[in-house]
Amino acid sequence: MLEHEIAPMTSYQFPPGFMWGAATASYQIEGAVSEAGRQPSVWDTFSATPGHIYDGKTGEIACNHYHLYETDVKWMAELGIQHYRFSIAWPRIIPDGRGRVNEAGVDFYRRLVDCLREHDITPHATLFHWDSPQALEDRYGSWRSREMAMDYADYVTAVVSRLGDRITDWMTINEISCFTHMGYGVEATPPHAPGTRVRTAKEVWQTSHHAVLAHGLGCQAIRAASPRACTVALVDNFAVTVPISESPEHMVAAQKALHTCGSNGGIIFPVLTGAYSPALLEQLGADAPDIQDGDLDIIQQPLDWLGLNIYSGVYVRAAENQQGYEFLSFRDNYPRLHMPWLWILPEALYWAVRHVSDSLGKPELPLLVTENGCAAPDVVNNQGEVIDLERILYLRQYLKALHRAVDEGYPVRGYFLWSLLDNFEWAWGYDRRFGILYTDYETQQRIPKASFHWYQECIRQNRVV
Ligand code: FCB
Repeated sequence: MLEHEIAPMTSYQFPPGFMWGAATASYQIEGAVSEAGRQPSVWDTFSATPGHIYDGKTGEIACNHYHLYETDVKWMAELGIQHYRFSIAWPRIIPDGRGRVNEAGVDFYRRLVDCLREHDITPHATLFHWDSPQALEDRYGSWRSREMAMDYADYVTAVVSRLGDRITDWMTINEISCFTHMGYGVEATPPHAPGTRVRTAKEVWQTSHHAVLAHGLGCQAIRAASPRACTVALVDNFAVTVPISESPEHMVAAQKALHTCGSNGGIIFPVLTGAYSPALLEQLGADAPDIQDGDLDIIQQPLDWLGLNIYSGVYVRAAENQQGYEFLSFRDNYPRLHMPWLWILPEALYWAVRHVSDSLGKPELPLLVTENGCAAPDVVNNQGEVIDLERILYLRQYLKALHRAVDEGYPVRGYFLWSLLDNFEWAWGYDRRFGILYTDYETQQRIPKASFHWYQECIRQNRVV
């Protein structure tokens, strides 16, 4: 072999047809908040209130994707993704939350989807990524009311009956725990819209109960309204319990701990198994939500995929206490990236998959990683480049962990990187950058970071490079 010849690399190869993608969400990228009939969402109101968002920022302009979507789709094509996950803004489609449909709002998504299709990119639309209409907050307090689930289902019908000719992959709701437990939580930090502090834990659980109910009604509405065969998924960010080591006792401990970690027992459990976790209900006692007859049947709908948003996890070990496990907290110098919660734990991706298949008893349910990525303090250097080595390190480790799950035969079908471009990171405003495209917010120029080129090569070779 000549010295300059490099033997072809084949390790960490994904199966043919593995879906490579990237993800975004409407309020985080679109801007154009009062264009073509859109009315405010709770995030417009929340971010306009001083003290809520870092540096007083809002999503008023964000990445101006509403106007620049063609440029952004060109970047996607350049990247080589065949799948793109984005969300549809309810207040563009039904500005008052219920009632009249704003056709001009629907048209924006028609243009976007047609542009994606022209570039052979399959659209995956999330129907709700937190930007609910302010009108419903004013009317009945959004997710505090059961009416929200009914209004959501009507909104879904309006969208799917209009766009179902060109979108066939639907995701009902993104990360229920965030806009319920963090949006209403008595002690939630950083705060999330609508930011209403309810008085009791029971009221918080009631908001997430209404959201899982909305998911179930949404699945039914999609299937009823779609003019074509389609797929339906939930996107969940359940808290992943990772055994401190892969010994039988610690693995059993991680399985048990899954029930009471975060809000798992009241979200992913009823969605997949048709019941709240008994361990959670016991822990909640009088704080458990009111569940009406028939709710659980609605909540547990057949799914074509489950979407997993995984960034980090929680270490667990076996313990000689009543539950048989304990959670281990991270010490301050445990490695993390540019968010307080972004502890680097690649095995969380592997264990997320195993928990769905094994602990939740759904070995046949196809899985998509619908979000994974990290924030880093990116800057443009004097050669005009963004060399985000931390992001490459992070993504490479997580993808290797995912590959392990694929290799062991678990039904992982695809991966969507969060995010295509730097965007409005909720309470952190524009201070935290998750993109593989750098967004210059002054000029709205996009600059591909080193991680963009790295991910492009993974896609090209269909393996972790
Ligand atoms: C997830 C959200 C997404 C983004 C990432 C960093 O929780 O779904 O909108 O903010 O975190």
